[in-house]
Amino acid sequence: MKVLVIGPGGREHAIVRALSADPYVNEVHCAPGNAGIAQDVTTHAIDAQDPAAVVSLARELSSDLVVVGPEAPLAAGVADALIEAGIPVFGPTKAAAQLEASKAFAKDVMAAAQVPTAMAHVATNTDEAARALDEFGAPYVVKDDGLAAGKGVVVTSDRAEALAHAQACFAAGGTVVIEEFLDGPEVSLFVICDGKHAVPLSPAQDFKRIFDNDEGPNTGGMGAYSPLDWLPEGFTEEVMERVAYPTLREMEKRGTPFTGVLYCGLAITKRGIRVIEFNARFGDPETQAVLARLKTPLGGVLLAAAQGKLDDTEQLVWSKQTAVDVVIAAENYPDTPVKGAAIAGLEAANGLENVHVMHAGTAGDEQGNITVAGGRVLAVVGLGDDLSAARAAAYAGVAEISWPGAQSRSDIALKAERGEIIVANESK
Ligand code: AMP
Ligand code: GLY
Repeated sequence: MKVLVIGPGGREHAIVRALSADPYVNEVHCAPGNAGIAQDVTTHAIDAQDPAAVVSLARELSSDLVVVGPEAPLAAGVADALIEAGIPVFGPTKAAAQLEASKAFAKDVMAAAQVPTAMAHVATNTDEAARALDEFGAPYVVKDDGLAAGKGVVVTSDRAEALAHAQACFAAGGTVVIEEFLDGPEVSLFVICDGKHAVPLSPAQDFKRIFDNDEGPNTGGMGAYSPLDWLPEGFTEEVMERVAYPTLREMEKRGTPFTGVLYCGLAITKRGIRVIEFNARFGDPETQAVLARLKTPLGGVLLAAAQGKLDDTEQLVWSKQTAVDVVIAAENYPDTPVKGAAIAGLEAANGLENVHVMHAGTAGDEQGNITVAGGRVLAVVGLGDDLSAARAAAYAGVAEISWPGAQSRSDIALKAERGEIIVANESK
């Protein structure tokens, strides 16, 4: 089987790596990819958000399957164009990707499907925003109602800051969703869907804030680990029953069946599980940890989903090891990143036992250096028999890598390692 992966980041590097290890996949291509992906497979410099360009590349390569990584090509209708051309695609249509692209749409689907989520109001002007903020009280949660790469959300106890974010969104011509604050540990559960059937991957936890102790602004994600040994028994089954299947049925009922990854971003609150957000794709950097543990060949699962033939009785096989990945970001991220620096230590890190480095925002220069070319630059993955060993491996890799201004968190998976994550699940 020949597979074409669409996207430029660390998630795509992890998907490419997993597909390359699949004995039934004999050719993997990526477009546009990055400098690290280009070391592993053939990359193609096309505009990933141009549906016609993706279709024509897939035809040229005789791809049996196209896997779309990021949200932007999905929202641009890349999956629709591939379906029209008769090419199997893993990833939702533009209409189904609304689950991620519009927070208001996702809330509407959840309400219709009775999926547990935070109470919320859509606001279109300052008065409505102020009223919603005061109804829910502090801490305030204000979300830009559009794609914002995880950076459109402000969670703050400062009412003025919350209102200012809403006003900035209105000024840009947008609307906001204002929500009740969900208290409790967060979990990312990726569910592979074929429109009707669904298979969950192993749960992961992501670290959204830029600085240690969850301080500073939100980012796309600064690290992750999987599995989560602190989850209550039956957690995944409960999410499938109360979240994934009702959502799939509702999407089907609306004539927009969902194929691809239903990313369930969840909080485990005192009153039970709640959906924080849906995404329509694999999470980044959770995928780097999750796929590092997957033993079932990935290509067959994704092709079955693309063809509507997913066997939802299939139990995926996972390594008993734990995976931790730590993102190294560019200077000034999540604000405008400083690009261009040469990255030192990649080979040394990749040479360590139980460590591999996934590239995100990297490029190559004329001197043969790998350079910083985006906000999140690398994700260093460590595997180990337990969380301590996996953390030690990941951080040993991080210690090898350097460039001026590089930033990473030192506390990825630390609370879990110390047994400090508390699940207060009083009732459902
Ligand atoms: P989102 O883009 O909706 O995933 O939001 C980004 C991050 O903001 C989430 O991962 C949470 O950490 C936080 N967040 C979003 N919504 C809420 C909420 N209702 N209560 C608490 N935290 C939230
Ligand atoms: N890590 C969060 C996301 O992929 O949206």
